[in-house]
Amino acid sequence: MEKDLLQPDINIGLVGHIDHGKTTLLWRLSGKWADVHSEELKRGITIKLGYANVIIRRCKKCGYLSYKQPCPKCNSEMENLRHVSFIDAPGHKMLMASMLGGSAVMNAAILVIAANEPFPQPQTKEHFFALNARKIKDIIVVQNKIDLVSKEEALNQYKKIKEFFESYNLHPPIIPCSAQQEINIDLIFEEILKLPKPLKDTTSNPIFLVIRSFDVNKPGTKIENLVGGVLGGVLKKGKLKVGDEIEIKPGLAIVKETKQGKQVSYKTIYSKILSLKTENISLKEALPFGNLAIQTSLDPSLTKADGLAGCVVGLKGKLPEITNKIKFKAYLFEKIVGAEKEEAIEDLKINEMLLLSINTSVTVAKIRNVKKEKDFFLVEGDLTIPIVPLKDSNIGIARNYGGQWRLIGWGELIT
Ligand code: GTP
Ligand code: MG
Repeated sequence: MEKDLLQPDINIGLVGHIDHGKTTLLWRLSGKWADVHSEELKRGITIKLGYANVIIRRCKKCGYLSYKQPCPKCNSEMENLRHVSFIDAPGHKMLMASMLGGSAVMNAAILVIAANEPFPQPQTKEHFFALNARKIKDIIVVQNKIDLVSKEEALNQYKKIKEFFESYNLHPPIIPCSAQQEINIDLIFEEILKLPKPLKDTTSNPIFLVIRSFDVNKPGTKIENLVGGVLGGVLKKGKLKVGDEIEIKPGLAIVKETKQGKQVSYKTIYSKILSLKTENISLKEALPFGNLAIQTSLDPSLTKADGLAGCVVGLKGKLPEITNKIKFKAYLFEKIVGAEKEEAIEDLKINEMLLLSINTSVTVAKIRNVKKEKDFFLVEGDLTIPIVPLKDSNIGIARNYGGQWRLIGWGELIT
């Protein structure tokens, strides 16, 4: 394959309200069904972040765009154009923390909106606000399920969607489509090809954010045949090479029973990169973006069942110290957008608990100190799970309303 197409150059999120067709669309864009867990298959919803890499190709004869080859229209040869990576987020309102974690590694997003439901649905708005919080500006809107509505209904909703974005001074492309009936998928590829390539920083120390972690050994494998634990995620900056010595933070949680109750501390894990893969392609050296799987020398029991999801990987000795104390600027929205009822958002209060999504990790902060400034709150808090305080991290802030974490604003970490 062409060398510059070895790795995806962009991570594109699939976001939007539950059941609007994100996973079905990803299947049409990639040939891969990302919901694979038994619970996801049973309930028909996405629970964990899914992903797929795709090489977008254009037919040399008729110009049709597809990931397939030869051309599904005229059976001619296809030309490889761009390698992209998709991240499929869950739309369920209870899984907002997972969506926020995914948004930390997205460079652009496809917001999927079902044509057969009133617009906007709560998570349509909440995910759009989450993209804003992460400063993700490149958005493609897909108006899905047009097979279920009349032309007039589709046009009416199209107008509403356009006006909604215009009220935020945005003019994203809006592509009517049916993921199920495979209508207009090529037009979505056309828009993806237009997405600007995010800048790659390949000279800083590497920062790899773990989204998932696995034990890839089949049950019953003999000890001598076991392979090391695998970390799946995204390299945000720098380079990683096979053979690199790495550290993983916060790392291993160690629980101690004391008279005051359970005490949890974290221990940095050290390991070595045994192999690097972006889906089926093995790499000697990885550069930013795309889904990346790092095979380590770790005991696979550490990485099984997403045991290290939310961790940060860097070169040995190069990551900042973890901390349980946090200081950040919080910018609150005016209203809660992710609930049926759009209540006003009250000021932050001392001792209240907030769910913070920082990079791909999720932690809870108890506010120790808060000061209202002109357009933000200066917050100091104590964290249940420590973070790796990386410069320029932005934070998704959620507050609990009747047992559900709803996005109320975003923050900038002060390091
Ligand atoms: P969550 O991940 O749970 O948020 O859902 P999702 O947005 O990934 O939706 P999913 O792709 O699982 O699709 C939900 C349902 O809508 C499934 O039954 C799909 O077959 C159906 N569906 C998806 N796209 C279309 C479409 O274009 N037309 C029709 N008629 N149904 C569709
Ligand atoms: Mg889904």
